[in-house]
Amino acid sequence: MNKKQSYRTILSVAMLASLATSGAVVAAQPVGPDLTDKLRGLLVKEMVEIEAAMQETYSAIIQGKHNEVAQKGQAIHDSFILEQSLTEQDEQDLVAAVPQEFLQMDGRFHRLAASLAEAGKQQDTQAQVNTFNRMTESCVACHSRYVTDRFEGLDNQSFPAAWGHDAGGDSQG
Ligand code: HEC
Repeated sequence: MNKKQSYRTILSVAMLASLATSGAVVAAQPVGPDLTDKLRGLLVKEMVEIEAAMQETYSAIIQGKHNEVAQKGQAIHDSFILEQSLTEQDEQDLVAAVPQEFLQMDGRFHRLAASLAEAGKQQDTQAQVNTFNRMTESCVACHSRYVTDRFEGLDNQSFPAAWGHDAGGDSQG
């Protein structure tokens, strides 16, 4: 490669990089450090429980254990932070600390957990798989936007902007 070509290559890489950062995706902004200790503690505890429940759900789906899928979906739904009995002060602290979009992603995830429970009750394996995939997209979307201080490997990932939002993945079922 001669000098001119390698310069061009570097330039185009730089242009691609700037295009990627100037896209629709807003700069990542970790929310954890802005939460009160109480809220952060609750959130972390809940996340650990959700991850365990997701793994158990996966196992139940691929073995056709519909009742267990329904139970896990309900448990994920019920454990959710905004569903917990936060005091009014906690709620105000939460809303003050996180961007509106975080709450929207939270709501989306919450609704998906309800859909998972429903798909379990309906004994509908295809709906269980689809919903599980949408939920995984939600985890990744929220973490890659709001937890990059801890999950560096999710920083600057590219995936559909709709992930984690209500239109996300719906076209695929
Ligand atoms: C609406 C945003 C949001 C969604 C959706 C979300 N998370 Fe999280 N998650 C967070 C935040 C914020 C943290 C970091 C908390 C902190 O460190 O303060 C976190 C942290 C975690 C952690 C680390 C907990 C620890 O040990 O400290 C795990 C595990 C986790 N999430 C699992 C999941 C899974 C699995 C899903 C999807 C099924 C999910 N999360 C969906 C916001 C989200």
